[in-house]
Amino acid sequence: MTIIDEKIKDEFQKLPEDFWDFKLSTTHDLTHGLHSYPAMMVYPISRNIIKIYKKYQPIETLLDPFMGSGTVLVEGMLGKIPNIYGVDLNPLAVLMSAVKTTPLSFSQLESIESHKNSLSQIKAQAIAESEAFERYIREELRLDITAKNGWGDCAHQYIDAYFKSKNQKFDCKYFTNLGFWFLPKIVVQLQTIKNFILCEEDEAVKKFLSLAFSETVRTTSNTRNSEFKLFRMPAAKLLDYNPNAFEEYFKLLDRNIEKMKDFISCDVFESSVHINYDDTRALNTVPDQSVDLVITSPPYGDSRTTVAYGQFSRLSMQWLGSNSPISDSINIDRALLGGKPSRDKQQWATLGSSTLSETLGRIAELDLSRANDVFGFYVDLDQCLNRISAKMKKDGYLFWVVGNRTVKQQILQTDRILAEMAKKYGLKYLFSFGRNISNKTMPSLNSPSNEPGKSAKTMTKEIIVVLKKE
Ligand SMILES: C[S@@+](CC[C@H](N)C(=O)[O-])C[C@H]1O[C@@H](n2cnc3c(N)ncnc32)[C@H](O)[C@@H]1O
Repeated sequence: MTIIDEKIKDEFQKLPEDFWDFKLSTTHDLTHGLHSYPAMMVYPISRNIIKIYKKYQPIETLLDPFMGSGTVLVEGMLGKIPNIYGVDLNPLAVLMSAVKTTPLSFSQLESIESHKNSLSQIKAQAIAESEAFERYIREELRLDITAKNGWGDCAHQYIDAYFKSKNQKFDCKYFTNLGFWFLPKIVVQLQTIKNFILCEEDEAVKKFLSLAFSETVRTTSNTRNSEFKLFRMPAAKLLDYNPNAFEEYFKLLDRNIEKMKDFISCDVFESSVHINYDDTRALNTVPDQSVDLVITSPPYGDSRTTVAYGQFSRLSMQWLGSNSPISDSINIDRALLGGKPSRDKQQWATLGSSTLSETLGRIAELDLSRANDVFGFYVDLDQCLNRISAKMKKDGYLFWVVGNRTVKQQILQTDRILAEMAKKYGLKYLFSFGRNISNKTMPSLNSPSNEPGKSAKTMTKEIIVVLKKE
């Protein structure tokens, strides 16, 4: 360790034990709060890392290789870091991060106000039309809007027939099980709003509107919004469910405009921000040997048994359309870290982590297939470490916020596994510190069985592992 390393370590380790808990902080200030996202990082973590690190080493370039909703990138802008890179394989995360890191001009904010005004002018009529359509479905056709079949799987046929019979053209975005996830009137309301968004010519404004629309899709869908996985409300609740997409969209737009104004007032125009849809196992969008500082929180494990980012994003992406090669959630979740299990037990030792090999051995005694699933995740994480290392400048630092989850009652010590795997790529372990998770926006209970309501206790602590590129 150099003298600087010692000083940095000292400063971090002198802090009170509960310093990193940030019990009273929210995740919603400024543009952080423009859209919900699973497992968002509590922003004072990155804010304080940047503040402390900057005292000892200059930061020209910051990277978050698992940017998610863009928390670290926004903090990089507030910390006035000149170059900022962010990467994610979830198209909704890419949209979110782009909007959160794009300060809008006064005239762009005015365009948003005029969008709101034009939409307000047709609101009453559009709601009346959507309600007439809902009456047609429920009362004239007597369809059960809670059934999987009928409205659930053939919504497009009913919409086409209804609007044709009225000699009206209604361009609707159709996707599988549209009616299962949305009430008839909400489909009409959402499509009407979307058509207005599509008229917007300024790309940054269109993305800003699309993000409020995406949250509207979530809050007016038939999903239980308290869960990140896609589970529908019980039928009885659905019959009385009465959302209003216009009210919701206007409310979210107003909230987001205020958050954007707060962000602009922080004077954040100095950074050059590069947001990319990329796979961190490749990381082709970040120049080699360019990064001084990485702050990141990778997924805790595969999407199927931990956080299903694809499922969380699916309805939004289906409404918005995505220009990525992966457009549905099943593919997104399979494409993310750990999406494909690794079947070769012989490979377990090859990642260079004895902690991982020993833990896999214990899991395999109980369930070999589960051990292979777990190994698949670390194979991917290892590949990311390799690519991230190639992007680092010599002496650059990496702060990894990780959680140690339990599989088959065996604790996967990701903090140790990460440090052990990183060594072979010239990333040296320096020190680590812990934090209690008190208000991170992820469930402290997850559903490994994929059944609604069934949950198992997961981690309540995170560990921040500090590595250095040699
Ligand atoms: C814990 S979340 C990051 C949350 C983020 N710190 C925030 O505050 O919103 C992990 C992210 O890693 C992304 N991810 C998973 N596998 C990936 C891969 N192979 N390449 C790029 N991103 C990936 C997921 O889509 C998810 O957005």
